[in-house]
Amino acid sequence: MLSTLIYRSRICEGLSPSSLEGMISHASSKNELSSVTGILLFDGTHFFQLLEGPEKAVSSIFETICADSRHHNVVELMRDYAPARRFGKVGMEIFDLQSYSEDFVLQAVLDKGTSKYRLTYDDRALQFLCTFVQARERDNYLDIPQAEVWSFQADGICKTPEVVSLPDLKDIGFTFQPIIDPLSLEILSYESALCGPAGASAISYYSKVTHKNIYEADLEAQKLAISVAKKLGIGDKTLTLKFLPMTLITVPDAITALLGEIEKQGLVAEQIVIAITENSEKTRDDNLAEVLKQLKASGMRLAIDDFGSGSAGLLLLTRFQPEKIMVDQGIIRDVHKSGPKQAIVQAIIKFCSSLEISVIATGIIKPEEWMWLDAAGISNFQGELFASPALNAFPAVNWPEADEIVIKAS
Ligand SMILES: Cc1cc2nc3c(=O)[nH]c(=O)nc-3n(C[C@H](O)[C@H](O)[C@H](O)COP(=O)(O)O)c2cc1C
Repeated sequence: MLSTLIYRSRICEGLSPSSLEGMISHASSKNELSSVTGILLFDGTHFFQLLEGPEKAVSSIFETICADSRHHNVVELMRDYAPARRFGKVGMEIFDLQSYSEDFVLQAVLDKGTSKYRLTYDDRALQFLCTFVQARERDNYLDIPQAEVWSFQADGICKTPEVVSLPDLKDIGFTFQPIIDPLSLEILSYESALCGPAGASAISYYSKVTHKNIYEADLEAQKLAISVAKKLGIGDKTLTLKFLPMTLITVPDAITALLGEIEKQGLVAEQIVIAITENSEKTRDDNLAEVLKQLKASGMRLAIDDFGSGSAGLLLLTRFQPEKIMVDQGIIRDVHKSGPKQAIVQAIIKFCSSLEISVIATGIIKPEEWMWLDAAGISNFQGELFASPALNAFPAVNWPEADEIVIKAS
């Protein structure tokens, strides 16, 4: 099957384009040997390459290209299949956009085309190419430094059950993971997640309760989480509680019960963020909308967790806007390398900004993920890079420290 791969990247500083000539002819012969063809565009700063050929050969060449130290910030824009090659003449040909006047540049590139796509503008691959030639997406090219620019320093503060006494935690446990603003060195919230004793899966807790009262058990657990957070010293930070959506719908007066516990612990309703996952049919339920109204009226905040992974998605947002959106880690993973993920995150940031909703990027494990998201405009993060969830404890945070901060749009 004929596959197409398109990426863009940025030339490394100090490398002269003329020094690429030898590489181009070598690459072209290598590509031809694997039946791979394509075109490489260069605008003086960025490369844009389209590779076409058998899927395995294209992937393996792309792996080698990604590891090449002559360029960086390699972002895969498209991987697709096509009935015919667009640029089938040579293994690889470079096209320096600086050598052409703007009026002729696009036609000159398209003239190199070999297929019926030549003048077809509804072909996605050619549209990517036109967009690059016309530099229409340039503002979205975020240049991030090497991961090594940052080191992560633990602050050494970890509040554990040794420090505070937690007598109620025989059959149940909670992990706490902070949501932070890394550059302001600020912990914004602790998210608690229910688990079994000694960190076992939450299923071990729920399996002890019958199906009939699973939601009552969830509510009781959330109340306990509030008291544990208080004992651990939540102070004036917020506590994010992950609820089963049905708990709020099916348990009578669930909100009143929560408010009672909040007051008992000397906290205020505004400190509690109720996180519901959109990954549920129930988020389309009219009864849920009713409960969420009550929740907002109580002063508690609402967050949509795992945003982007579920079934309700944007439809839920048209009906009800939360204070926070926690973007699913599947979208965050390797966002610095993926054009589709970058486009989706940028769209989320844009609509959240229009709706005054804060965006939290979750599941961060790589410095590059954080750097790209920060450059895109997100400032609230959660993930192992900064702190892993800790059992019945507030974990220490690994704060980023930089010798040199170089994050800029190219
Ligand atoms: C922007 C850019 C595009 C490249 N394109 C190709 C390519 O299409 N095919 C290829 O074999 N190598 C390409 N290379 C070079 C590879 O990264 C790598 O240096 C080369 O494949 C190594 O060949 P060798 O294993 O024979 O030494 C490219 C490098 C850069 C910086």
